[in-house]
Amino acid sequence: MELDGRTAVVTGAASGIGLALTERFLTEGMHVVMADIEQPRLEAESARIIAAGGSVTPVVCDVSDSDQVAGLRDAALAAYGSVHLLCNNAGVASGRPNHKTRPEVWDWVVGVNLLGPAYGISAFVPLMLEQGEGHVVNTASEAGLTSSPMLGSYHATKYAVVGLSESLAMELDGTPVGVSCLCPELVDTKIFEASRNAPSELGFPPPPAIPIDQIALMMDTVAMPPADLAADVVYAVRADQFWVITHQSTIVKVVARNRRLEQGRNPKFGPGA
Ligand SMILES: NC(=O)c1ccc[n+]([C@@H]2O[C@H](COP(=O)([O-])OP(=O)(O)OC[C@H]3O[C@@H](n4cnc5c(N)ncnc54)[C@H](O)[C@@H]3O)[C@@H](O)[C@H]2O)c1
Repeated sequence: MELDGRTAVVTGAASGIGLALTERFLTEGMHVVMADIEQPRLEAESARIIAAGGSVTPVVCDVSDSDQVAGLRDAALAAYGSVHLLCNNAGVASGRPNHKTRPEVWDWVVGVNLLGPAYGISAFVPLMLEQGEGHVVNTASEAGLTSSPMLGSYHATKYAVVGLSESLAMELDGTPVGVSCLCPELVDTKIFEASRNAPSELGFPPPPAIPIDQIALMMDTVAMPPADLAADVVYAVRADQFWVITHQSTIVKVVARNRRLEQGRNPKFGPGA
């Protein structure tokens, strides 16, 4: 798909991967509607980009609310007249044992990570089909292809986004609307501080201003820069490529999981799995 002069809508655009996608799309000559629930950061980042000459429109939007996602579509159309690229990227994570995950936490994680992309598809794909051009990028995760302990709600929603994306790609096969599914491993973002955007009634303590040492070290050493991921996304959109897999190790883990499944062996984590 041609990007220059076209419009992208990016959810979760105030931070991390969404912000990197926004900045990359601007360098490709696109207009970007930046949607996020975190208003102060959204205002600060969009003001910085506008001051530097970027064509962006900030929209405060909670993607777990279908009315707000419909409002996002209307705001994008009012600003730029059409939408060619939708990045369903906003996401949150909560790490705790499955049997200790409260119903309200399930509602929050499912609402943002799964219903957000579902509502985005309902709001934007009809427009794209009507205009005869478009592409949807869903940010799933490596965690949508392989599993680990303590992240059940995150895995459940990310596996669901992979299934949703595959189903959508099958439905749209032969139409001018493409689909990509982003499955990165660790990226240097604020995902470990996701509780900052949790509804206050969940009663999460505020995340520390500086991430705990181990996370900071991991982000500094092994995490992928979000700008590199954004470059992969641009390539995938142009090439109409479905899978955006950033690390060969993801494939190795998927093959091992499939082998375990074929052989009827139980899930296992860690050395020897
Ligand atoms: N960072 C990683 O290692 C990694 C790896 C694989 C996938 N992902 C996925 O990438 C996506 C982006 O996360 P990130 O890593 O950039 O983290 P991030 O915390 O830096 O950015 C996430 C953004 O989503 C926004 N957001 C949260 N709830 C929202 C809501 N209800 N409505 C609208 N916006 C909301 C946040 O305000 C934030 O700006 C997520 O879907 C995440 O699951 C991240």
